[in-house]
Amino acid sequence: MPTDDKLPEGEDKAVAVQLMFDRIAHRYDLVNRLMTFRMDVGWRRRAVKALDLPRDAKVLDLACGTGDFCNDLMRFGLDPVGLDFSAGMLAAASTDAPLIRADALRLPVIGRSVDGITCGFALRNLTDLTCFFEETSRVLKPGGRIALLDVAEPPNPILRMGHKIYFGKIVPRIGALFSDQNAYKYLPKSVEYLPHPHDLLAGLRAVGFSDASRTLLGGGITQLFVGTLDR
Ligand SMILES: C[S@@+](CC[C@H](N)C(=O)[O-])C[C@H]1O[C@@H](n2cnc3c(N)ncnc32)[C@H](O)[C@@H]1O
Repeated sequence: MPTDDKLPEGEDKAVAVQLMFDRIAHRYDLVNRLMTFRMDVGWRRRAVKALDLPRDAKVLDLACGTGDFCNDLMRFGLDPVGLDFSAGMLAAASTDAPLIRADALRLPVIGRSVDGITCGFALRNLTDLTCFFEETSRVLKPGGRIALLDVAEPPNPILRMGHKIYFGKIVPRIGALFSDQNAYKYLPKSVEYLPHPHDLLAGLRAVGFSDASRTLLGGGITQLFVGTLDR
């Protein structure tokens, strides 16, 4: 990931993101747990509960990374398949779920074939969210459910300031200590890629998740989008 102030776009961004996750994969889980004080574990479980799907439902976990979401989906009796484009993250994965190396913007999955979709902390890494939302609505069965997590900025101004200092100054140091400083400098900057929550909700509703809703978690540092594909 480039260290200058300008964030890459388009194909440059996809290549930079893939290389960065390949590089940090072996320490990804450790740094995640440290920098979120393990709250990431609870957020994923909350998202799986919010999916509210029956046992054995087939769920595609997009941008699955090291397989945390897949493990939680299995814990809740669901039947996940993970998909990620970083060979490094897939190699570092620790899950019994089947994993596919592919681009979340071009899913190698037939239409109307899965009951649910999850995606954790990857929206800001994607190069085309409209395309991503269209792909999710293509592969989900009518009535299928989606649960997407990503970082957020707390609405409370004091919390927002503390969060800015923590992610801007402390997280890169944790990253430097245990992994790769540049990658963890990218994390706070990558929030700039995320559209406004209203636009994310509008994007989901536009592709058929009419009931899409957003919930803030962890005092507002994480956001969860949930929706049902119209029948
Ligand atoms: C921050 S990690 C999140 C991993 C995991 N979902 C989690 O909750 O910990 C972002 C992941 O998105 C993946 N990713 C980014 N863009 C992608 C794309 N276009 N297709 C597939 N995977 C992608 C990266 O390789 C990386 O594993």
